[in-house]
Amino acid sequence: MELKDRIKEIREKISEEIEKITSHKSFLEIKTKFLGRGGEIQGLFKGMREVPQEERPEAGKNINDLSSWAAALFDKKEEKIKAEELAERIESEKIDVTMPGKRTEPGSYHPDTLIKRQLVDVFAGMGFEIYEGPEIETDYYNFTALNTPKDHPARDMQDTFYITPELLLRTQTSAGQIRVMENKKPPIKILSPGKVYRSDSDATHSPMFSQMEGLVVDEGITLCDLKGMLDEFARKIFGEKIKTRLRPSYFPFTEPSVEVDVSCFSCHGAGCRLCKGTGWIEVLGAGMVNRRVLSGCGIDPDRYTGFAFGMGVERIAMLKYGITNMKNLFDGDVKFLRQFKGTEV
Ligand code: PHE
Repeated sequence: MELKDRIKEIREKISEEIEKITSHKSFLEIKTKFLGRGGEIQGLFKGMREVPQEERPEAGKNINDLSSWAAALFDKKEEKIKAEELAERIESEKIDVTMPGKRTEPGSYHPDTLIKRQLVDVFAGMGFEIYEGPEIETDYYNFTALNTPKDHPARDMQDTFYITPELLLRTQTSAGQIRVMENKKPPIKILSPGKVYRSDSDATHSPMFSQMEGLVVDEGITLCDLKGMLDEFARKIFGEKIKTRLRPSYFPFTEPSVEVDVSCFSCHGAGCRLCKGTGWIEVLGAGMVNRRVLSGCGIDPDRYTGFAFGMGVERIAMLKYGITNMKNLFDGDVKFLRQFKGTEV
């Protein structure tokens, strides 16, 4: 075939095929087919060898013309394709602001958090400061300084997770009492919330739970101050009509020690399932700080007296919200937690 006809043929083929291009990918394919190395136009240059000497300048010019014509054509096409693809993307990524949105359901406070905040609120209102001690404690702070030396039978009241013979996961926030009294001299009025650990697990016990500890030390503090403060606490947490009563008990670090009951907020004393027919519900342990504990912390027990109390946060949450299994508080089941939506902190 004559070179001129070949050029004409390629020109037509390009014009025809370029029309059909719809994507950048096929654009590149077609462009290489004609303009790439080993492409059709390159092939023409190679074929120059067979062209007689005198026709070569003319032939070369014609092929060059074809090549630059094709290059310009492809450039134009590329611009067009890019513009089209961009327009398409803009169209497909368009946001319809009138479409209804995806709902995100707001969560609820965990009952534990609710109670903790309510307690902190009540006691902060009475002038307590917050102190948070470490969860990994020494045997000394958790037991010995609380008048519970190594051979003391009261150690059996709590099944302890030991890390080493001297380090443990604190079994009670009472450990913080010592840290506070070692560092601060009376007047002391501290509330200490925190997690504690005991090797114990059933419907009303969990190996990890939360306590709220209170400590007040000053001149002239008596058990009456404790009782008055507890009355206020019970009214704020369980309701205006609630009364408290103290029963004798035992803790190594308080003397005398008491168990504190609140009048049943379900039956108001008549006797029901919640209070097991007694009209009273046990809510916390407390007492007057033992002289030995005060003097161990460098506080003169002849001048100062104090009271301490400690309550289980989960126990209060279970009582207040009628939760019968403590596992519910730790399972993280959304269906359970949803019930507390909108509950006031
Ligand atoms: N730490 C005691 C317990 O965990 C509670 C308590 C605290 C008792 C403070 C008296 C005073 O059982």
